[in-house]
Amino acid sequence: MAIVNLLATTALKSVGLLGSTIWIIPLMLASLTFINYNQLDPESPIINQKTLHKEYDFVVVGGGSAGAVVASRLSEVPNWKVLLLEAGPDENEISDVPSLAAYLQLSKLDWGYKVESTGRACLGMKNGRCNWPRGKVLGGSSVLNYMLYVRGNKNDYDYWEQLGNPGWNYDEVLKYFIKSEDNRNPYLARTPYHGMGGLLTVQESPWRTPLVVAFVETGLEMGYPIRDINGADQAGFMIAQGTIRRGQRCSTAKAFLRPVKLRKNIHIALNSHVTRILINPSNMRAFGVEFYRNGRKHVVLARKEVILAAGSINTPQLLMLSGIGPKRELEKHNIPVLRDLPVGHNLQDHVGMGGFTFRVDKPVSIVQDRFPAFPMTMQYVLNEKGPMTTLGGVEGLAFVNTKYGNRSWPDIQFHMAPASVNSDAGARVRKVLGLTDELYNTVYKPIANQDVYSLIPLLLRPRSRGWVKLRSKNPFDDPIINANYFDDPKDIRVLVEGAKIGIKISESKAFKKFGSRVHIIPFPNCKHFEFGSDQYWECHIRTISMTIYHPVGTCKMGPEWDSEAVVDPRLKVYGVTGLRVIDASIMPTIPSGNTNAPAIMVGEKGADLVKEDWLSFAEYKK
Ligand SMILES: Cc1cc2nc3c(=O)[nH]c(=O)nc-3n(C[C@H](O)[C@H](O)[C@H](O)COP(=O)(O)OP(=O)(O)OC[C@H]3O[C@@H](n4cnc5c(N)ncnc54)[C@H](O)[C@@H]3O)c2cc1C
Ligand SMILES: *[C@@H]1O[C@H](CO)[C@@H](O)[C@H](O)[C@H]1NC(C)=O
Repeated sequence: MAIVNLLATTALKSVGLLGSTIWIIPLMLASLTFINYNQLDPESPIINQKTLHKEYDFVVVGGGSAGAVVASRLSEVPNWKVLLLEAGPDENEISDVPSLAAYLQLSKLDWGYKVESTGRACLGMKNGRCNWPRGKVLGGSSVLNYMLYVRGNKNDYDYWEQLGNPGWNYDEVLKYFIKSEDNRNPYLARTPYHGMGGLLTVQESPWRTPLVVAFVETGLEMGYPIRDINGADQAGFMIAQGTIRRGQRCSTAKAFLRPVKLRKNIHIALNSHVTRILINPSNMRAFGVEFYRNGRKHVVLARKEVILAAGSINTPQLLMLSGIGPKRELEKHNIPVLRDLPVGHNLQDHVGMGGFTFRVDKPVSIVQDRFPAFPMTMQYVLNEKGPMTTLGGVEGLAFVNTKYGNRSWPDIQFHMAPASVNSDAGARVRKVLGLTDELYNTVYKPIANQDVYSLIPLLLRPRSRGWVKLRSKNPFDDPIINANYFDDPKDIRVLVEGAKIGIKISESKAFKKFGSRVHIIPFPNCKHFEFGSDQYWECHIRTISMTIYHPVGTCKMGPEWDSEAVVDPRLKVYGVTGLRVIDASIMPTIPSGNTNAPAIMVGEKGADLVKEDWLSFAEYKK
């Protein structure tokens, strides 16, 4: 038992969880399953390469959702030497537990960003600033995320091609979604939209509450089908599928890197923070990167390409630090301008209405107090089942349209969770949201530990655009992020319609069986509006404006004539050779759905573009 204890304590320390006693017993037990690792087990941790070569063919920066895929696929070519540099450590026993997703935020595995205050959104958060978590760990944000497997609408990708990006239409990208996938639901796997035998496991959580059944039944009542929202059509309701494997998180590190870790031609270096891309100004060729590991500066060279996969915040930061970015911005920080490009512009995110809470009269929801830690943990450890396998608490998904949209391209998505801000009595959720004490104490404390569910309407295609800028030329400083939510007034109008659809959902026959009703304690700052009026919902949305954690677009892919484009449709940075961006930052517009599967798709397609460019036709076909 000593070793178990030690493992658990280390894991807890690593995410700063010591002190929150409720999870200690489950986690000690959870770590039991990990003792028998050996290097040959494809599920065992990766090998953190200590001594590196001076030069590789490809240097991949960032081992997140896309970067892990890129490094894995490039290392399929036996004579290519690939280095993956990741700023964070490996995953651990806690990040593997699906129900603990929110516990990773604000931990050592999170970059811990906050957006700037604008006075138009995030009004109920401390200092008017929303938290913006991003994974700083091998697997990136696929280790922090809620694991929901959603691809978006086929119109999203057809639109990307219409914008001047050949090869990115729906039929083309569908091949790559399917390539990654091992869908364990036999009914879905049989359809032309899903794959079996891929590296990424996709399945439903083996545990669910009766509330999610009511949720999908509500869809039928409202005239929406219950359907595979990743299939032929998107509008409808569904019990969510997630990237989980045998009840545990299936991050991209687990799916794409662990199985290839014994290949001789791939090195993975953890805790390696890249600070600059080395570019020769005379021929504008990227030839390597500079990085810090254990406090020491290193340089590594790239014979063929440097590939940036540091995500929508850090990729633009790194480009700017290296002299690629808006001229005026770079000059402000005395960074020599190598290429004037709109890096950091075009930031888009899905903003949702948080804290939208509905009470029920039956003990059918997740109330932390009521879940006995010991049996719950045994169920998880021994049977890979039970409440610990819930997808960060989210059970149901729906795509609907407001009066501003239509069925073929829904404008609102709902996440349904059998819990809300009050369900853990303020222990965690309020902190990751960053709610002010006044708001929490007035609205949610009075119903602490009572049965509720929440609906989160989110705006699928925002018109507002934000930006990422440098705070300073110090690579260890957080960049400035302005999400710019609700800059375009149409955005708030669509979301208010979403709130009203949420009320309708909560009043369905299926939900009424549980005594469902909206929780009415007005927000202190919205009290002067009539509860339930459009103005009230607008005020609520501006108060608990919730990121759904999907920033994209800051290194926009586009044709040469697009003045906002940073990379071309083959993901090469304009004006620099040997440099590509392959991550969520290249998305020209945000897909209508959660962005992990799309980021993985970008990784798959990006890796193929690299192979097409460097291999002969005969080699590529192999
Ligand atoms: C809390 C949360 C919940 C989410 N829930 C869902 C969900 O349920 N479903 C869904 O589809 N999507 C979800 N998402 C979004 C999804 O996970 C992201 O869109 C996706 O992971 C982005 O992939 P990426 O490859 O662009 O970036 P990331 O996965 O963030 O990868 C970037 C990687 O680069 C590394 N890096 C950054 N800078 C440097 C540097 N200078 N040097 C070296 N390495 C560096 C980072 O540490 C990280 O590992 C969620 C995200 C979060 C944060
Ligand atoms: C549906 O909405 C989309 C985007 O809002 C629009 O482009 C499309 O033309 C609409 N389709 C119909 C049939 O109205």
